[in-house]
Parts: sequence; C-alpha cells; structure tokens
Amino acid sequence: AGTTPQFRPAAHFTAHGTWLNDPNGLLYHDGIYHLFFQSNPTGSTWGNISWGHATSTDLIHWHEQPTAIPSTDLEMVFSGSAVADVRNTAGFAGPGQTALVAIYTSASTAASGSPGAQAQSLAYSLDEGETWTRYAGNPVLDIGSTEFRDPKVFWFGEEDGHWIMVVANPVDHRVSFYSSPDLTTWTLESQFGPAHAVGGVWECPDLFALPVDDTGETKWVLIVSLNPGGIAGGSGSQYFIGDFDGRAFTADRVSESTDLADYDWLDYGRDYYAPVSFNDTPDGRRLTIAWANNWDYANATPTAPWRSSMSLVRELRLTRHEGGRLRLVQQPILPAAVPGVSVFDVSVDSSPGQRTEVLLAPAPGEGSSHVVLTVDGTSRTITSDRTMSGETDFHAAFASRDTAPLLGGDITDLRIVVDGSVLEVFVDGGLVTLTQQVFPDAPLSTIRIAAADATR
Ligand code: FRU
Repeated sequence: AGTTPQFRPAAHFTAHGTWLNDPNGLLYHDGIYHLFFQSNPTGSTWGNISWGHATSTDLIHWHEQPTAIPSTDLEMVFSGSAVADVRNTAGFAGPGQTALVAIYTSASTAASGSPGAQAQSLAYSLDEGETWTRYAGNPVLDIGSTEFRDPKVFWFGEEDGHWIMVVANPVDHRVSFYSSPDLTTWTLESQFGPAHAVGGVWECPDLFALPVDDTGETKWVLIVSLNPGGIAGGSGSQYFIGDFDGRAFTADRVSESTDLADYDWLDYGRDYYAPVSFNDTPDGRRLTIAWANNWDYANATPTAPWRSSMSLVRELRLTRHEGGRLRLVQQPILPAAVPGVSVFDVSVDSSPGQRTEVLLAPAPGEGSSHVVLTVDGTSRTITSDRTMSGETDFHAAFASRDTAPLLGGDITDLRIVVDGSVLEVFVDGGLVTLTQQVFPDAPLSTIRIAAADATR
C-alpha cells in the first residue's frame, strides 16, 4: 500500500508513521501543552502499546516527540493521565525541581506471569516530560483484576487537598474514586454506576468542575466512554452532570429509560472516543481531546503508514438549557488559517416542515465523493451521511448515517471543520457535535446548501 498524504489532517494530531489511539496524560506545564497517546511505536495497527508524546504551544500545531513510556516484555502501557506534582507529594523531585508524574495502567503480558492483569502504575519525569523513569514501587494500585484501567488523576482542593483518581471497572459499568496524599498510596472512597449506557465496557473516565454559564454556580462533569454501545454504534462517550465533594460523585439526573437518546453524549458521530481533559490549563479553561475513531473499524482505516487521528481540542462550558437541564457546550480551538483545513459557518432554517441539505464536496471536476448533512426541522434532527464519502468498503460498519438531535431554535447554526480525513460538525454553538472520518477521492473543499433532495 502506498502512503496517503491526502488523508492526513493538518490541525488534528496524527503520529508521523505509526498507530495511535486514546489521548493520555493531557497536561499544561511551563508554557507547553503535553499530549501523550496510546502508541504502537513500531506499527500501524494496535499493539506494543506505549505512551507516545507530542507537544504544542497553541493547541493546533503539534510536534511529535520520542516515545515517552515504552512497552516492555512485562507490560503494555495503557491509558492514563499526568500531573505536575508541584508540592512534591511523591518525593520524586530534588531541590528546585518539579516532577511530572504519569499515572498509567500496567497491562501485564504473558511473560510477566500474570497475563492480562491490570493495575495502576507511575512514571515520572524531571526534565519537562522528555525522559521518564518507572517508579520502583509499581504498581501503586492493584485490586487483582484483569479489568481495571484508565486512571484520571487530579488535585482536589487547595493546600490541604488531596489527589483524586477516577478509574474504570469496565465490565462492571462502574467508575471508582480513590484518594491519595502522595500518588503512591490510594484509598477507595466511592463508586458510581452502572447508569445510562451499559452496552459495552466502561473506559477512560474523566471528572472536572465547570461553572454554569456566569451564574457563579459550579457543577461537576463525569465523562465515561464505552465500547461498544455508543449512540452512533460502536464506541462512544457519555457524560453525567452532578456534584463531587472530594470523595463521591452524585449525578443530578439518572434516567430510568433504556433509550440511548435520553442520555447525554459528548458527540453523535461514530468517531469520537475517549475524550479527556487537560490538567492545569491556564485561566481554568477546560480543554479536551478525543480519539477521532471507532473501535469497530479503527485497525482497518485506509491510511498509511500512520493510522488514526486525534480530534481538535475543544473548550467546554456548561449551560442551563431548555427546561432547566444542564448541558455541555463544546467549541473547537480553531486554526486561524492552516493550509488544508476548511471551516464553513452556515445557518439553516430548521423550523417545522423545513428540510435542508448541506453538501460537502470536492471542487468542481476534482472528484465525486461527498457528505450530506440533512437538517430536518420536523424531526428536529441533523443527519450526516457518509455513505458516498469515498473509500468506505474497508469495513461494513463504516458507511454510516449518524443522526443527532437539534437542541437549538428555528435557525440552526453549523460550524463545519474539514481537515484531511476528519470532519467535525458543531451545531448551535456546540450544544451538539458530530465527528466522522471520511476518505474522499479529493478534498471536501466546497459547500452547497439546498432544499432537501434538490442538491443531487
Ligand atoms: C480505550 C482503551 C483503554 C485502554 C487502551 C488500550 O480505547 O481500550 O481502555 O487503556 O484503549 O490501548
């Protein structure tokens, strides 16, 4: 197979020549945004899982760095998070130093003697993330399970605070909350779940506080990814809004319905998984990155030698929406002008009876691939149809039509970002988002809007 430069996005991170999946260890420290990621340093499919590393100062241009934490004969390095231990609670730093500490899941290999065991481990860096040392006391949290992964750690409280770890018990559809004074000893505080979507394993949790509009009120958001069982099919990510007192999370709204549409979803497209947020961002901004892919077909997407991309960085807010219900609002950190990235802003009449098609297509004469976004005012939905988007036959689940609810008014605002093989749609200022991969025969660089069924 040849290389596929035409599919490589410019403002969405890809590894230069290898596989990636979940974002890990998102951390801002000393002017640098760090993006670690699930990496196969030697291949373009999942395997040898290690932590890759990339850095950025603007959240748009990413610079790939050497592998941070490599897999060994004994363990793969599964997903997790990173913190700056500014109080030197773990004691890894010498005078004048700050340790960056990665908290990851040790996934034991057959050679370890306990194949498949999953436990939480540490590695630390004393040179701003360039080189990493495994903690000699690993693992730091082991419950004797083969299903226990993806720790998200953050500091809770002020000087007298403590570390909190949110970690998944995947097959139980639970997340567990642990506390620690020093990152090395952990105490179970509480659990949450099962709740809402449980059609697959729960993975990659995150938990953070956000202000509600500008009311002065603060709520907590718990993100839980699951695979399969997502709203668009395959892997997807849901969220809960509630309160967290430093020990336990309580959701405001737990629906008894079995209808997936009654739950809260981070994204309604097929390709938005494992979103997690940065620790220590300036100005308290809450910024996330997700893996723009779906486990249904991730190992088969038609790119080479790299495979898989991250999403754009999104900034999150909470808003009190119709009926008083709180909802997340997500807006992309957008490139001012990056060659190859197209950003379209359109407004569409979505009052009852109106049906409008937004067609994304190559420049005239360049190709025939296209994506159709249908905004339907009667059903109050937007559907993105990628069945004619180019290469789709590499997997039966790929040629999808993904539908999202319209939560705004009678005019629907769409911000559509097309960047290589990633399409992200932000509806009504980010009340709803829809992310899909596309592999078109020429860049989808033009847009056309017409009453439904008149565009083709
Ligand atoms: C989610 C996931 C995580 C795991 C990692 C392994 O996509 O399955 O639960 O830590 O990928 O690469």
